[in-house]
Amino acid sequence: MDTQTFSAPSAAPGTPQRNVGSKAHWTLDWIDFSRIRVADVHDNEDLFYLLVSASFIESGSDTYTRNLVEHFTAYPQIADWLQGQWEPEELQHGRALRTYVQTVWPEFDWDSAYAAFFAEYSRLCTVEELEEDRALELVARCVVETGTATYYQTLRDLTNEPVLSDLTERIRVDEVQHYKHFYHYFKQLDGERKLSRVRVLGALRRRLHELRTSDSDIALRYVWAYHPARDGATNDPSFDQVCRRLYRRVGERLPMDQAVKMLLKPLALPHRMEQWVERPLARVARRVMTA
Ligand SMILES: [Fe+2]
Ligand SMILES: [Fe+2]
Repeated sequence: MDTQTFSAPSAAPGTPQRNVGSKAHWTLDWIDFSRIRVADVHDNEDLFYLLVSASFIESGSDTYTRNLVEHFTAYPQIADWLQGQWEPEELQHGRALRTYVQTVWPEFDWDSAYAAFFAEYSRLCTVEELEEDRALELVARCVVETGTATYYQTLRDLTNEPVLSDLTERIRVDEVQHYKHFYHYFKQLDGERKLSRVRVLGALRRRLHELRTSDSDIALRYVWAYHPARDGATNDPSFDQVCRRLYRRVGERLPMDQAVKMLLKPLALPHRMEQWVERPLARVARRVMTA
């Protein structure tokens, strides 16, 4: 297969060209973890689950990158971006969230819980899990980045703790940039072939379904299993009860209108039709999340 040449995506009008321009990406030492107001968040059980599970999935990103890079070997610019920028940023999200969790909840054995989570999670990250068509895999990646961007926005809005607000906003901005890269590469790859909307919709639906049923459930299960306050007593909440509570809490606050806009973009619907379907779709998506 011929290798392809792509340009890097440009930022949206009015937005600085971070990640692709000269501005340095933030590093861990920009976050002053010693300033965390531990008492503000320590007893927030939902935040504990949501932050630890996010730290697990982000920390496992390198497994995913290996598969993606392999998948895009015919497109060196995409593979280079995945390896040189996307992976380091996702792993940095993992390290930052892990440091936050270990500072606020030192009683939680992050290393053991993560090792157990990773043993199961890494078996799921195989090339067979990816869309065979490279353009459709880029659509699927847009779904994942839409999920993370809106998830961190929700986490940011769930707290007033200043270090966590700052951290979740930094990660949210990165996830939006990742979305823009994947979308841009999709447009370039799809430029000549023009995949049918039915096929694009199929990829969107498949990855949305996986998002709802796999990664986060596995991560949450290991947070629950290693929860420091769980002692096997009968009044411990069951895993299902915890999941229902968390999905409801996040689902009620997720910026669905924004998520739907981002998800619809690869379909390139006529503007009027896009406006017509956005609201009802956002309502259905919220119902599914909070069910
Ligand atoms: Fe991330
Ligand atoms: Fe991302």
